[in-house]
Amino acid sequence: EKGGYDHFMLKEIHEQPKAIIDTYRGRMLADEGIIRMAGIDDNLPKFLNADRIIIVACGTSWHAGLVGEYLFEDMARIPVEVEYASEFRYRNPIITEKDVVIAISQSGETADTLAAIKLAKSKGAFVFGVCNVVGSSIARETHAGAYTHAGPEIGVASTKAFTTQITVLSLIALKLAKEKGTLSKAAFQTYLQTMQLIPAQVEKLLEIDEHVKNIASIYKDAKNCLYLGRGFNFPVALEGALKLKEISYIHAEGYPAAEMKHGPIALIDENMPVFVIATNKGHYEKVVSNIQEIKSRSGKIVAVVTEGDTTVKEIADHVIEIPDTEEAFTPLLTTIPLQLLSYHIAVMLGKNVDQPRNLAKSVTVE
Ligand code: F6R
Repeated sequence: EKGGYDHFMLKEIHEQPKAIIDTYRGRMLADEGIIRMAGIDDNLPKFLNADRIIIVACGTSWHAGLVGEYLFEDMARIPVEVEYASEFRYRNPIITEKDVVIAISQSGETADTLAAIKLAKSKGAFVFGVCNVVGSSIARETHAGAYTHAGPEIGVASTKAFTTQITVLSLIALKLAKEKGTLSKAAFQTYLQTMQLIPAQVEKLLEIDEHVKNIASIYKDAKNCLYLGRGFNFPVALEGALKLKEISYIHAEGYPAAEMKHGPIALIDENMPVFVIATNKGHYEKVVSNIQEIKSRSGKIVAVVTEGDTTVKEIADHVIEIPDTEEAFTPLLTTIPLQLLSYHIAVMLGKNVDQPRNLAKSVTVE
């Protein structure tokens, strides 16, 4: 059942190239320059006339929602708010009929997300679901939706659900951008062609497993770790830290890299591993200077960089290279080595990777 892998988590990490293809198959027709998604096509005016999009989710799905914020605002120029479902539902939020609420959930059963949906519906908002489990409560409770076709996710730590959620959100953002005319035809076309390259690039990244394992063996005994990123990769930093926490029980924090100087940099010493996402587009120089600040305080740096990088390579203790892609799609690649890193650290520490202590796969109580 684990398909020859030691754990479901590792199997699911390796399923990502296929899961991403399954998610865009039939929806993205790259050569024709078309994205068709029934749940969007049938409700297009709702999206095009929306004052804003509110994304509600929990945990890893909330991190995907944050990537969604960057995608929707950058491509389709629609204001987005991303909310923890548990906070949203209890804070008397302002919701109107002109809001579109997108609920993201792998299981489709998360109690807080379900309650947030019911609240949004009661205020007249249009609610769209991004779920993995077909026929789940959230899929049934929403007005329309788009499934992530990731297949069953058994490992408690979410992996392929996250990358397929980002894939669906990318498709929606591109679709709306095309309809609104906020992206040029050429840019739209480039995005579609670039998306088609992602599965093979993920496949290639999975091959560097030994390198990541080696890095894992060096840092597995750390008591605390930091994960830093900016822009589209800030949410990836949060997700990297969550993955490490939940399966290895090592304390980890994700931060926007520039926030370091507002407090967390005080933590840096020679015992502090800092995982930094420093891909070539989007704030690269800024991230480089953040890395220098850490280095000059003796922090240990593991950087996720774009193939061919030379600047960060000189400063960092270790680098992990990802293939080049559009900045907006980098989360689909930068996430992969961070998943592998957490996996290997947890295995090396002898933890129960697929069923970490205190955690359940779906959180059906608040
Ligand atoms: C993390 C993880 C959780 C879930 C969260 C939401 O690896 O699995 O943080 O992401 O409980 O679950 P869903 O997406 O099923 O609503």
